[in-house]
Amino acid sequence: MIVVKSLEELSNNPFTSPFALVPTMGNLHEGHINLLEIAREKNFLPVVSIFVNPLQFGPNEDLDKYPRTLDNDLEILEKNNCHGVFIPQENEILKNIEPLEAPFADKLCAKSRPGHFNGVITIVNKLFEVTNPQACVFGMKDFQQQLIIQHLIKTKQYEIQFLSAPVVRDTNGLALSSRNNYLTSKQRTEASKVFTFLSEIQEEIKLSFKKQKKTLPIDLDTIKDNYVQIIENKGFKIDYLEILDSKTLEICQNNSTKILIAIAVFYKQVRLIDNLVVDLSSFS
Ligand code: PAJ
Repeated sequence: MIVVKSLEELSNNPFTSPFALVPTMGNLHEGHINLLEIAREKNFLPVVSIFVNPLQFGPNEDLDKYPRTLDNDLEILEKNNCHGVFIPQENEILKNIEPLEAPFADKLCAKSRPGHFNGVITIVNKLFEVTNPQACVFGMKDFQQQLIIQHLIKTKQYEIQFLSAPVVRDTNGLALSSRNNYLTSKQRTEASKVFTFLSEIQEEIKLSFKKQKKTLPIDLDTIKDNYVQIIENKGFKIDYLEILDSKTLEICQNNSTKILIAIAVFYKQVRLIDNLVVDLSSFS
């Protein structure tokens, strides 16, 4: 496994092409490892970057306590036959960085985490610039992040193939996340209800869609409002629950084909996000 820690080493093109960049903040779990598999399925060598990006944390967020487990991460990557790792030095990667503004600034996570996606897009752009990958892999768990990176590739006209990886969950359905480490195993079981709610909402949407003879608009607002109540009554504090067109993040229209159900909740002060995409075309 090729481990690169400086921009100077990177400038010698140490990685074998074609490779896919897999940006992470470390504390790797099965959700991250699956991104390597997706790269390989498409015949790209996986190159993982590990950097806890200070630009994407708000002043009251968990930058200081974000789990940093570099030695263990490297062991996991080695075991999983990762081709390369890039571990940038903070001062080097942030130096002269071009600040970028992310689209969808008034949607979903961007609303409750102002500036977060500007930090994400700024660092990912820099990682693209310095590593020059032929592809990149991002997880669907961060649905809005995926849309933003796709937008970045388009506007900068990068020749980088975008690969999307499905959400990896534990046996109860809880989406794997480094932030799950803040919860006990009992709390994690409780937190997995978030996925149950999403699945129930998905079923309701499918049912109403069929009942309405496969047309939109179904009364998505009523479904949503009901679930806001149900979820809050179960002890979760809702940051948002949205049912939107998955391409535009706008309210669903008659021609919407994929519906995104996206949720962010606080549970025991930990912010958990998850989503499901309902493909209406599969019912028509
Ligand atoms: P991080 O939270 O470490 O996630 C790195 C990548 O792993 C992202 O593409 C994320 O969507 C994916 N991922 C995390 N948990 C997943 C799961 N349970 N199933 C599928 N994919 C999962 O996202 C970031 O870091 C940062 O914002 C970053 C892109 C690295 C920029 O700093």
